[in-house]
Amino acid sequence: MNIPPELIRIMQQSDHIAVLTGAGTSAESGVPTFRDAQTGLWAQYNPMELATPEAFARNPQLVWDWYAWRRELVAQSAPNAGHYALAAIASHAAKFTLITQNVDGLHQQAGSENVIELHGSIRRIKCSHDNDIVTEWGEQPRCPRCGSWLRPDVVWFGEDLPIDGLEAAWQAAKSCQLFLIIGTSGVVQPAATLPRIAAEHGATTVEINLEDTPLSRFMDFTLRGASGSVLDELKTAVYA
Ligand code: OAD
Repeated sequence: MNIPPELIRIMQQSDHIAVLTGAGTSAESGVPTFRDAQTGLWAQYNPMELATPEAFARNPQLVWDWYAWRRELVAQSAPNAGHYALAAIASHAAKFTLITQNVDGLHQQAGSENVIELHGSIRRIKCSHDNDIVTEWGEQPRCPRCGSWLRPDVVWFGEDLPIDGLEAAWQAAKSCQLFLIIGTSGVVQPAATLPRIAAEHGATTVEINLEDTPLSRFMDFTLRGASGSVLDELKTAVYA
């Protein structure tokens, strides 16, 4: 792919670059996305039976087992070229904010710091009663202190996003000069809103995705392709 020279110039001149990533960013690491037909998790599983507080109240074992399976998948996967390119871009930019909807921790594993995890982390486990993080438990997934069921520290449908992360993401969208939105279908809030906020505050917006999304037509640039290779090319073109 040819990176537009105008985009290279804008990126080189941007003091603050903000990035929002979604499941597509980890697809090349073998982590399934949610909404891709055939391969997406929501094509095979009903989110309302697995990713809501009500589902957990009805059948905590089923929900625990499903997340344990995904945690294992994530543990066996490794960051791809896109995760590494973002960590490298961060080291060049004067200011860089990485916001992710992913719960897999692969950005951090690739060396990214201060990642804003809007949907939490599948790698962290918390007590479902008081939300305290738990690192060890026995045979059963029960809180060692109070005996309540343990659950992943992720945001389920119907739950609030972490307020600190949300505010930091909002601030970044408002103050950045370049906003990249990568590998997300852009149908879950606030993913859909952040690039609009950025554009309203004068940022250049760029989408990297295999396909068109509802956000594509509002973007200044759309780079079509797999995020791993596109980000690697972008990093090389801008900072070579
Ligand atoms: P989706 O599964 O909705 O969208 C994945 C996007 O990535 C699609 O637009 C694909 O076209 C694109 N894509 C797939 N492979 C790609 C690749 N190799 N390179 C570039 N793009 C690629 O995932 P999200 O938008 O992240 O929330 O989903 C948002 C939220 O909905 C998730 O965080 C999750 C889900 O329900 C919760 O579980 C709370």
